[in-house]
Amino acid sequence: MNRLTAGFIGFVAALLLIPTFGYLFLAFGNPPVAVADKPFPFEAQIVRIPRHARIHREMPKSSPLDQNDANLVAGARIYNQDCAACHGLQDQASPFGKTMYPRAPDLWEKHKNGVVGVSDDPVEETYWKVKNGIRLTGMPAFQSLLTETQMWQVSMLLSLANKPLPIEATEVLNKPTH
Ligand code: HEC
Repeated sequence: MNRLTAGFIGFVAALLLIPTFGYLFLAFGNPPVAVADKPFPFEAQIVRIPRHARIHREMPKSSPLDQNDANLVAGARIYNQDCAACHGLQDQASPFGKTMYPRAPDLWEKHKNGVVGVSDDPVEETYWKVKNGIRLTGMPAFQSLLTETQMWQVSMLLSLANKPLPIEATEVLNKPTH
């Protein structure tokens, strides 16, 4: 066996070891599976970088809807029915949003940096998330549950979470859900 062949066999053997160790780690290494487990190293970055790139490639350039009371009230109704259970109401956090991993952020709460919910994100970005969902997180894809208009209405509402809303929208939004 010449050197080149030996080197090649060694290389192939090393390649085979990678999946073997990978499997052994998954089966016996106790990787995180429960909500309270510590995340994988760089887990947040590994998820955030491709998601950000994909959304910014695909999100529409602008919203087709006018910002008016009718659209905001409709958005509030959708939010109350389809989103509040995980994302909370204005003065009432979701009982189980915080017990998910990753947790469902409270979309009416002021974060440490002073931003309320996703009001600092472009409405088109929120629309993408509502339409397509966020894989492996529990955030559903609403494209087969809501119409295009409804997805824009609820996204518009969330983009204004830091502003005063029409009274009717606030009432509909905060109606007790159970
Ligand atoms: C079953 C629970 C659940 C429901 C119902 C749900 N979401 Fe989510 N949502 C999540 C989770 C969990 C995340 C966090 C994903 C992550 O960390 O990447 C999320 C993330 C989001 C985000 C991104 C937040 C951010 O900081 O970027 C938006 C916007 C959002 N949801 C909007 C909605 C809207 C609008 C609805 C209703 C039409 C809805 N969600 C319904 C669980 C839910």
